Amino acid sequence: MSVTIILGTQWGDEGKGKAVDYLAGNFDFTARFNGGNNAGHTVVNELGTFKIHLVPSGIFYPRMRCLIGNGVVIDPAVLIEEIESLKQAGIKTEKRIFISPRAHLIMPYHKILDGLYEEAKGAGATGTTRRGIGPAFADKTSYNGLRWSDLADEKLFADKLQTQLGLKNKIIVALGGQPLDSEKILAEYRGYYATLKPYIAELYPIIEKGLRDKKKFLLEQAQGALLDPDWGTYPFVTGSTTLASAATAGLGIPPRAIDQIIGVTKAYITRVGGGALPTEIKDESATAKALQEVAATTGRIRRGGWFDAEVVHFSAHLNGVDALFLTKLDILSQFDEIKICTGYKFNGKRAHYYDLNAYQLEQVEPVFRTVKGWRQDITRARKFSDLPLQARRYVETVEKLVDVPIKWVSVGPEREATIKR
Ligand code: GDP
Ligand code: IMO
Ligand code: MG
Repeated sequence: MSVTIILGTQWGDEGKGKAVDYLAGNFDFTARFNGGNNAGHTVVNELGTFKIHLVPSGIFYPRMRCLIGNGVVIDPAVLIEEIESLKQAGIKTEKRIFISPRAHLIMPYHKILDGLYEEAKGAGATGTTRRGIGPAFADKTSYNGLRWSDLADEKLFADKLQTQLGLKNKIIVALGGQPLDSEKILAEYRGYYATLKPYIAELYPIIEKGLRDKKKFLLEQAQGALLDPDWGTYPFVTGSTTLASAATAGLGIPPRAIDQIIGVTKAYITRVGGGALPTEIKDESATAKALQEVAATTGRIRRGGWFDAEVVHFSAHLNGVDALFLTKLDILSQFDEIKICTGYKFNGKRAHYYDLNAYQLEQVEPVFRTVKGWRQDITRARKFSDLPLQARRYVETVEKLVDVPIKWVSVGPEREATIKR
């Protein structure tokens, strides 16, 4: 396969970093095409544990080249810090990371506006990561964005920044904030540009030649399909499209070049921030606590619930997922019984995810099937046959309900804790 997309099929944090790190060994390029540093992808391998936000998770393979596409919004300070921490772990970054000059910059006012909008919405807030993602994509769409290519021209960048600060400071001040100083930002961003300039390169010739030479590309989506602005639970979504199709515009890859789409899905489900999570366990029970996690980017609590086949079936088929990479099956080893949501009822009638808006989704009643647990440590299983019968049955049930083959089962965060079926 020449071009493969790795796609989260839930509300993010499915284990995309783990899946990319496991699969990338056979690839020449890994690339990010959407989102920004709202993403937090965890990789655990022989080099250590890494929580990465912008650099593609294939960076740990020495010959891999890593592309940050035009569809990504970049906070330069975060990227510099990330590159620094990779270097400190002994990972070479020069001539291995390539940043599209078309990628937009996250500016200080984007982060301030993100917070101001959230606060104004109160209980109706999206619960963003406050990294400036939404306002940066809004500026891109309304022709107000600043890009790396602008930074290459000092006067152009200074003029554009001046115009934007004229607009943004008015909003910030009206909402009770402090105006930003253009000279300070200018100096700061010139410094970032000087540091990152060696990494900035137009990706079109790199990708076009790579495709011609039959090089292999692994494209790493950020967020999850259900955080998509159109097909997710708007307005509890993210600022850029998260669908497989985003990879084409977000990198410059023809749709026809895509051979395979792998959907990453957790054996249960989590969500961080606002918005419905129909199978959430809302009580204070040990089960509820066992399915909660700590977010890699913000340290917030990820709400947890049982596997929801209604949404994963939808997102897998909406995106044309060919195979599933099921993660965190080991977490379910602690339960006597496990529930799987097979569909929803809304006002007493069966309803699908796509029939409902985000507010109606809050009110659905999940229909559960209860299956037996296996109550055994499975973290050392490396073949499907090593798994206890009930665990195999669970995998087969998920596969049947989602109607997509599960090709990989992950039983621990480490690269090697993976079963290929
Ligand atoms: P991503 O954003 O999709 O890359 O996912 P995150 O890295 O934000 O969250 C997934 C979490 O689950 C991370 O802490 C991973 O190290 C961890 N993880 C991934 N796969 C497994 C697994 O199979 N078992 C366990 N126990 N942890 C896993
Ligand atoms: P990865 O790539 C989980 C959520 C936020 C919030 C909403 C909008 O690690 O799976 P934003 O800052 O994007 O404007 O926030 O989207 N969100 C994520 N949730 N995983 C992510 O990324 C996320 N990126 C954004 O919590 O609800
Ligand atoms: Mg994450």
